[in-house]
Amino acid sequence: MKQSPIGVFDSGLGGLTAVREIQQIMPQEDIVYFGDTGRVPYGSKSREAISKYALQDARFLKKMGVKILVAACGTVSSVAPDLSEELGLPYTGVVNPTCFTAARVTRNGKIGVIGTAATINEVFEQHCQLFVSFVENGLVDPADELVQLMVRRYMAPFKESGIDTMILGCTHFPLLADAIRQEMGDGVTLIDSGKETAIYTQKILRGAGLLRDDDHKGESNYYVSDTPADFEKYAALFLNNSPHNHVEHINIEEY
Ligand code: DGL
Repeated sequence: MKQSPIGVFDSGLGGLTAVREIQQIMPQEDIVYFGDTGRVPYGSKSREAISKYALQDARFLKKMGVKILVAACGTVSSVAPDLSEELGLPYTGVVNPTCFTAARVTRNGKIGVIGTAATINEVFEQHCQLFVSFVENGLVDPADELVQLMVRRYMAPFKESGIDTMILGCTHFPLLADAIRQEMGDGVTLIDSGKETAIYTQKILRGAGLLRDDDHKGESNYYVSDTPADFEKYAALFLNNSPHNHVEHINIEEY
């Protein structure tokens, strides 16, 4: 089991922010990534649809023989039921990792949360659904006027709120961190859901004795439900390296 890969999934490219961090802190681990690029975004879908998709995504990863399931998707983590019972595998989403860290680092107890519409319906805060489309299309440059306008519009409710910490509760959002920081200023600490989820995954694996030995060079393989070409085009934005190892199309409706 120790030698098995870590399974990571998201509705699209966003979960790659977690993959990048996993590759960095656990370079010895193999990763199987599934991006449901044919059905993205999840954030504007119903609870039923999101739960069904999450289960199919997880079933696919289980079939690939993963040792842990990482829902690197804020929407799945806050809306879909816990998948560990259903699939009999260790599981983490992004909610616990980011909330623990936000609670630890805040100095004034005022924490903002941004996520997709489905996530924010759960916590009654500000959704930033449009961020997902921008990120999926590579529009993340803080110098880009369109990016600045969008971020300003969505951040407006937080400007006067006195928050000192903000959870980027969607794995797509770390790509907009520079633009958000530019708008909110240095007084607001941004909590990166991809990074915190990677750290938490490492903790679970260590606790279960499932971390691989350091002498292995981890490989990552990527699967998508839409054309691999688009995924390859933008994945380099999320990863430190481009996903040249292996990107393959699968039919997720079979799971
Ligand atoms: N990456 C997903 C999340 O963290 C959002 C994208 C979507 O709406 O599907 O919520």
